[in-house]
Amino acid sequence: MHISIVGAGYVGLVTAACLAHIGHHVVCLDVDAARIERLRGGDLPVHEPGLDDLVEEGLRNGRLRFTVGYADARPTELIIVAVGTLDAEEEWDGTIVRAAVRGIAADPELPRDIVIRSTLMPGTSAALADEIHTLAPTVRLAHNPEFTREAVAVRDFLAPDRVVIGVDGHDDGDRGSALAQRLRALYEPLEATVVVTDLTSAETIKVASNVFLAAKITFANEISRLTAATGADAQAVVDGMGLDKRIMRSFLSPGPGFGGSCFPSQARALPQLAASFGVQTPLLDAIWPSNVSQADWLLDGLERAAGRPIEGMRVALLGLTFKAGTDDLRESPAIRLGQALAARGATVVAFDPLSLEAGTAMLARLVPDATIEPADSAVAACRGADAVVVATEWPEFGELPWSEIAPAMTGRVIVDGRRVVDTAAASAAGLRVVALGVEVAGAALQPAD
Ligand code: UDX
Repeated sequence: MHISIVGAGYVGLVTAACLAHIGHHVVCLDVDAARIERLRGGDLPVHEPGLDDLVEEGLRNGRLRFTVGYADARPTELIIVAVGTLDAEEEWDGTIVRAAVRGIAADPELPRDIVIRSTLMPGTSAALADEIHTLAPTVRLAHNPEFTREAVAVRDFLAPDRVVIGVDGHDDGDRGSALAQRLRALYEPLEATVVVTDLTSAETIKVASNVFLAAKITFANEISRLTAATGADAQAVVDGMGLDKRIMRSFLSPGPGFGGSCFPSQARALPQLAASFGVQTPLLDAIWPSNVSQADWLLDGLERAAGRPIEGMRVALLGLTFKAGTDDLRESPAIRLGQALAARGATVVAFDPLSLEAGTAMLARLVPDATIEPADSAVAACRGADAVVVATEWPEFGELPWSEIAPAMTGRVIVDGRRVVDTAAASAAGLRVVALGVEVAGAALQPAD
């Protein structure tokens, strides 16, 4: 099939490269000429494992092309809109999607089948369909949300749990189902389970899935606070819960709170949408505030273990990205931890293997009065530190040479927000590891004051 994709950002690129990989002819367009030029040379603007290989493959076999402007989209059969949905404050905002769809609909030479892949708050595409139906009656609108996670996006795209297709209620049975058929054909090589529904239900499947996972993480975070108080082992608890097939273990790992470009904005926007309908959603309302309070809870644990306030401490912050495997800093809980450390009066010495410069610059912007120092390795960050906070689960933080680090540290406490630290090695080096509020190693060697 010949398709065009509007937007060479994260979602657009993964969609374009993967659809070309499974045999389609894809034109990916963007208004950013510099970005397109880089992409033509195989230079990706995002860090995503495996994506460079697929882009290179598509450029080589000619099934993937990058262009500026809409001219090359004219001869294609359908056009996929994958433009951004976050405003400058990282809040969900459908303005760019709406503008792109309106623009395509207004140009009769562009494909009449428009598929929105960007994440939309429920009701957005049905309202757009209402508007477009009058202006451009031959346009058929569909919503086809993506469920890919950063760092494993290619794998998630090529082996999806489901493909969701929302079609326009304005279309009579034939037109709607014809577009659904077309989209089924697009994804046929993936042999995925396909769900065909209306536009608003498709939007809700996407957003409710994300917010459900955000709630699941939040639940695990609050349980970890409880286990820290009762003396239970949070890890054993979530492992034990996760064996129940109705619960499942995934997204039940407590940590410093969720981040990224999707969960935070959607966990805030969905209850706001409900409120705009006068619908009460106390459970949804609680997710975001609980999530952001996790950083302070972790730091309370640091102060308890150290037996002194954070004020005046030099703290090594290991990890800045919102999770491992990505260079993405958006809404990162590691950045929240850095902010909270600075707010409590610490000097923050940060290290991240992928986003050190951008991450420390972001922190410095957020807390202009604080001292934020970049370190060129985790070992260097710990030198002279009163405490260490592990904020991102980079595998290398599980292999740190604690016997070498410990003598160079001023303090003894490691707060492991991700449960990646080799507690035996840290303990043998005389350090105390506080994992999610509980002292799991070193207590016998170095009792708390
Ligand atoms: C998410 C959704 O998973 C994906 O389906 C959607 O398309 C985009 O948003 P992503 O933002 O890439 O993907 O990250 P994800 O792997 O879902 O993690 C989100 C956040 O939750 C990270 O900060 C991660 O560290 C945290 N997390 C995840 C936990 O704290 N505990 C867990 O058990 C799982």
